[in-house]
Amino acid sequence: QGHRVLVSAGPTQEPIDPVRFISNRSSGKMGYAVAEAAQARGAQVVLVTGPTALPTPRGIEVVAVATAEEMLQVLSMRLAWSTTVIMAAAVADFRPTHPASQKIKKQGQIAETLTLERTADILASLSAQRTTQLMVGFAAETSDLIAHAQAKLTAKGLDLIVANDVTREGAGFGSDQNAATLIDRQGIMTELSLMPKRALADAILNRAQELLRVRQFDQTSKLVQ
Ligand code: CTP
Repeated sequence: QGHRVLVSAGPTQEPIDPVRFISNRSSGKMGYAVAEAAQARGAQVVLVTGPTALPTPRGIEVVAVATAEEMLQVLSMRLAWSTTVIMAAAVADFRPTHPASQKIKKQGQIAETLTLERTADILASLSAQRTTQLMVGFAAETSDLIAHAQAKLTAKGLDLIVANDVTREGAGFGSDQNAATLIDRQGIMTELSLMPKRALADAILNRAQELLRVRQFDQTSKLVQ
């Protein structure tokens, strides 16, 4: 209660031409679960979502976007409003450099080569602009889970990262369940077993609340000194 939580969810879609795009297997379920769990605790929530097949959650302001660039614009505009950012979206890391304005025809083409360029790292960019917001990211990994997640926590300047082994059976993209290890910047790790995404969302919010409390305590003690 009293918190304003900015959540991102789902994949992004990067156009190749008017009928085709590059995307990924994200269903949006994890981010939606986080948004719903935060709202159920009394937080004000804005959910910025890439295209998903999920119903719009009740009572939550939802902003629909398609590309990484659009997601960056919307999240940057809402950053100052928020007290916590939870970046569960699976942002495409690359986009076609020159999306075609007309449908690419197969006639006459021997082999079409797609030239790609990097998209912005949204979380790193938000982190660089933040003032007092608590920043929570996800790490989707297929190997060396903890090492890769810790590297992302540091590189993106996060307070907490949710490390996700997306190859684990019954967990990750598309599934209703997920298993994760939460890692904070002090290196404290919480290993969470396979559980419904909503339960994992609550575990993430519990940890985020603890970190916010510690931060508030530190600030108050500084004022008293
Ligand atoms: N993320 C982001 N912008 C990107 C890519 C990722 O904001 N262009 C965010 C994701 O939402 C997630 C975190 O950064 O919270 C880590 O995303 P992940 O896909 O695991 O890692 P990447 O940074 O893309 O690195 P790599 O693909 O090399 O694993």
